Amino acid sequence: MEQRYEIKDLNNIREVAKEFIRNMGDRTVFAFDAPMGTGKTTFIKAICEELGVQDVINSPTFSIINEYRSEPSGELIYHFDCYRLEKLQDALNLGAEDYFASGALCFIEWPEVIEDILPYDTSYVVMREEEDGSRSILVRDSNPN
Ligand SMILES: Nc1ncnc2c1ncn2[C@@H]1O[C@H](COP(=O)(O)OP(=O)(O)O)[C@@H](O)[C@H]1O
Ligand SMILES: [Mg+2]
Repeated sequence: MEQRYEIKDLNNIREVAKEFIRNMGDRTVFAFDAPMGTGKTTFIKAICEELGVQDVINSPTFSIINEYRSEPSGELIYHFDCYRLEKLQDALNLGAEDYFASGALCFIEWPEVIEDILPYDTSYVVMREEEDGSRSILVRDSNPN
């Protein structure tokens, strides 16, 4: 299954986030695939805000796994930034597999290094910056590679 979205500019990002959430179904693990500066963190932040996360969500520059709580449900959301993760073993040591299996939503930036431990039903979110500055988003159920 595939879904496509377009973020025209930051004014409609929340609307796109809402639509993304409506279409998540029972999928929980989303791997974001896009070059630096495309807007992965910004979009994940918009999704989390729509899900009721109240704390400010900064780009997870230094910590690899960030935990957010959505209100009022109290459900936890995990935001991974694997950019600084050098080896798969480091992710295993952090318990990454347990998070993926937990049923909690997991949004992952720079998933390449942990590709081998992503669940079979991971969804891939491929983002691209278009020439007009809009961002196109393609969500698919399995690794496009
Ligand atoms: N949809 C968008 N439209 C315009 N600018 C955006 C959009 N998404 C992100 N940006 C801007 O692009 C820059 C990089 O965004 P960021 O989310 O940190 O990218 P990434 O996580 O992919 O490296 C930020 O300055 C952000 O404000
Ligand atoms: Mg980022």
